[in-house]
Amino acid sequence: MDVLIFGTGRAGQEAYKTLTSSGRYNIVGFSDNNSEKWGDKFFSLDIIAPADIGKHISFDIVLIASEWFPDIRQQLLIENICKDEEIFEFTINTSVDISKINSVYNQDNLKTVANHDFMHDALFQAAYARGLKALHHRNSSKHIEYFVDWRAHTLIWAAKQALATKGDFVECGVNYGFFSSVLMEYLDWDIHDRKFYLCDTFSGLDENLLLDEERTSGAAESSDKAKLKGAYVSNVESVKENFSQWRNVAFIIGSVPDSLSQIKAGRVAFLHIDMNCAKPEVEALRYFWNLLSPGAIVLLDDYGFPGHEMQKREMDKLSTEYGFNILSLPTGQGLIVIN
Ligand SMILES: C[S@@+](CC[C@H](N)C(=O)[O-])C[C@H]1O[C@@H](n2cnc3c(N)ncnc32)[C@H](O)[C@@H]1O
Repeated sequence: MDVLIFGTGRAGQEAYKTLTSSGRYNIVGFSDNNSEKWGDKFFSLDIIAPADIGKHISFDIVLIASEWFPDIRQQLLIENICKDEEIFEFTINTSVDISKINSVYNQDNLKTVANHDFMHDALFQAAYARGLKALHHRNSSKHIEYFVDWRAHTLIWAAKQALATKGDFVECGVNYGFFSSVLMEYLDWDIHDRKFYLCDTFSGLDENLLLDEERTSGAAESSDKAKLKGAYVSNVESVKENFSQWRNVAFIIGSVPDSLSQIKAGRVAFLHIDMNCAKPEVEALRYFWNLLSPGAIVLLDDYGFPGHEMQKREMDKLSTEYGFNILSLPTGQGLIVIN
């Protein structure tokens, strides 16, 4: 989250230190009503005039670190510099209430002020960091930007629910293994006596399975581009290396649904479907339907996401045919609980 701090006195200094030490915020600059400070630097960042906020620096929130909070807030609102929900207060004595500052969640197509304290949970953070480690194979730079916290939170919730029922876990569409790594880290996977089946071609989508509309909308070209850019994996060995810390993992290499016959699972408790392609997604759910335990969870990663309408349409057809309900989540995911 990008934060602009208003105030360059002691409170501004404390705000900077508190936010940077939390590791979750990106301080983009400072502002101050003292015109003598404009153009100067504070912690190596620009101090800009209030009128320039938003013009030269983009931000998610403005954190006012000043005893003049009510007046500055009024000033920012009257001068249309930012909206009320983007303004937060920092006070030295009470220290910063991080959960309050973080009360705007704004990433991955989702902007909300609903509580998302889960982001501060140490176990969640460690699991998310492990997911990011999986992505290091696609980008060896230390800093990887991938902000899908709420989707990861939903996934973790769904997997925890699924642990209450019998069966193995399956992911169709693994790529570098971000989401599966998050789960295995969070659940300390090897303490559970279950297999995690990771199903993927590990070389992009299967063009033979594209619907005509997907073909004409350039899905094959996008998959090839993703492989060229390294966004889609083309080397399963690096993915195997990522998962080598866990014993109870099996790689199912090949095109879904044909590859699924390699799976030795009796029952399935959790199925995550994320192939960005309608037909194999629907066929995967057909394949597993009779293997899913009562109470099992199916999570569709792209169900309501813009640009994935064909996946939604085909899954909706299957829901009518089989008689199940899909909960459309604001994260874009679709959730199915098996009766
Ligand atoms: C969006 S990525 C999956 C992201 C992944 N769940 C994660 O945690 O980062 C989509 C993946 O689906 C795979 N895929 C697409 N069509 C497939 C098919 N018919 N069979 C197997 N894998 C497929 C692609 O190779 C790609 O790795």
